[in-house]
Amino acid sequence: MNRRIFLTQSFLTLFAAGCTGLPRKHLPSYHGIHTEIWFLDIGYGDAILIRRGNHAALIDGGYPVVTPIILKFLQDSGIEFLDTTVITHTHPDHIGGVYGVLVSGIPVGKILGIYDPADTANPKGFREYLDSQTPDYRVVRRGDGYDLVPGIPVEALHPKTLVTDMNDSSMVLKTGDSGSGVLFCGDIGLEPQNELVHIYGPKLASPVIKMPHHGGDISEEFLDMVNPEVAVISVGINPYGNPRPETLKALSHRKIKIFRTDTHGTLHFKETPGSGLKCVPRGTI
Ligand SMILES: [Fe+2]
Repeated sequence: MNRRIFLTQSFLTLFAAGCTGLPRKHLPSYHGIHTEIWFLDIGYGDAILIRRGNHAALIDGGYPVVTPIILKFLQDSGIEFLDTTVITHTHPDHIGGVYGVLVSGIPVGKILGIYDPADTANPKGFREYLDSQTPDYRVVRRGDGYDLVPGIPVEALHPKTLVTDMNDSSMVLKTGDSGSGVLFCGDIGLEPQNELVHIYGPKLASPVIKMPHHGGDISEEFLDMVNPEVAVISVGINPYGNPRPETLKALSHRKIKIFRTDTHGTLHFKETPGSGLKCVPRGTI
């Protein structure tokens, strides 16, 4: 089937089904300026764009080959400046495409990452970039707070410290208070998921969750504490078995709406006054 038609049909199907008609409380309206979130269809990996008015932030960027897709999306969307670029961790399906974006010439306000630039564990290319370009790079740890863009603050819930498993060191970000906003989970596995339940409890509650690790292992305690209405799985063809059947089953069992970039294409969420955060067809952007 023609890819373009397939995506359009997918989005229309989502829209017709009511998609994500979340209550208005979930993302506040900032004086009439709408919040939009795109989970880009870039194959296996994460690439998330958040925009509010003329401000935008990018969370991860997929594999290196994905850079042209992101740059074209930014161009088509009229985004000429990134207030924030987040690198949740330095696996190539997250940081890979970010390099190309950073060196493309698009201005970037700040970069949030988990690695101390002085740490010898930094990826070689990343260290060279930081040394040569001297961007505003912030090392993020649990409890830190930043504005992704003006008016959209996030709190880092993880990591407290780095661990050997890079996935488990992923930055976890939450917008909004308990019961509102979006929880961006990077690629954390079961151990940090359970740690977050122990530390934050009900504060994790979020109507939208970017599922950990492309739909990989999920702690049912974590899922129950987050209590999402919508689960976004950013995934493509992969040899790792993601998303896990058990994870999909856990979501379905709880009647959580599942949106996957591999089957639905790029997911566009938009907050509109009076209707909350909704997934909208691509054609309406
Ligand atoms: Fe990943």
